[in-house]
Amino acid sequence: MKGRYFEEQERQVLEQIIRHRRTELGKNFLNREIPETVLNRLIWAALKAPSVGFSQPWEFVIIRDVSIREKIKNCFEAENEKAKQIFKDKPLYNQLKLEGITNTPVNIAMFYKPSSSPILGQTSMEKTGPYSVCLAVQNLWLMARAENIGVGWVSILDEKQVKQILHAPSENELVAYLCLGYVKEFTERPQLEIANWERPKSQESLIHYESYNTTL
Ligand SMILES: Cc1cc2nc3c(=O)[nH]c(=O)nc-3n(C[C@H](O)[C@H](O)[C@H](O)COP(=O)(O)O)c2cc1C
Repeated sequence: MKGRYFEEQERQVLEQIIRHRRTELGKNFLNREIPETVLNRLIWAALKAPSVGFSQPWEFVIIRDVSIREKIKNCFEAENEKAKQIFKDKPLYNQLKLEGITNTPVNIAMFYKPSSSPILGQTSMEKTGPYSVCLAVQNLWLMARAENIGVGWVSILDEKQVKQILHAPSENELVAYLCLGYVKEFTERPQLEIANWERPKSQESLIHYESYNTTL
């Protein structure tokens, strides 16, 4: 074959990165700066993601400013109060820390920018635009793990308010709000599993062969 060939040892490294990628819910972040060169490698990885029609429909806002992050944190607090009501039958919810907005050195807001002209591949499934941004998130997340940097994804936010705070163009959609920082621990299992909030689903229950029709 032509093109870069990967050896078994390299495959194992990727497997390890995928296996040990974690969400840091917020407690374990350390008060330590992320060097610019390291952050640039994460952004590079995000920008290498696949995108529908190679539209690269993403724009990122890198936020270090504490006063801006405090505004976002207030937004989280308000939304989280609503969430607490929704989960009022599950007192465990109140014990979970679900963001690291102000106890990380860097936040990144990742936006989807819709195109004003048709995009190859997006003509039938419009959501493939935002999906592309999710792939940029995942690339960044895996590269962050390879740099031993923890990532938290905060979705308990009011999109409109976040856009206002960040002066985002009206057509842009907020896809992900990430908190990045070095951590004191990468847990072996998802923190929501450790907290007994959710359990891993079995492969058997998720994978179908040929169709959903199990009577075949
Ligand atoms: C779309 C999306 C939104 C998420 N929103 C939040 C969030 O608001 N707060 C949080 O603490 N974690 C959030 N997470 C992280 C998940 O809780 C986490 O991925 C899940 O518990 C599995 O853990 P793991 O990433 O360590 O495997 C989000 C993850 C995704 C993919």
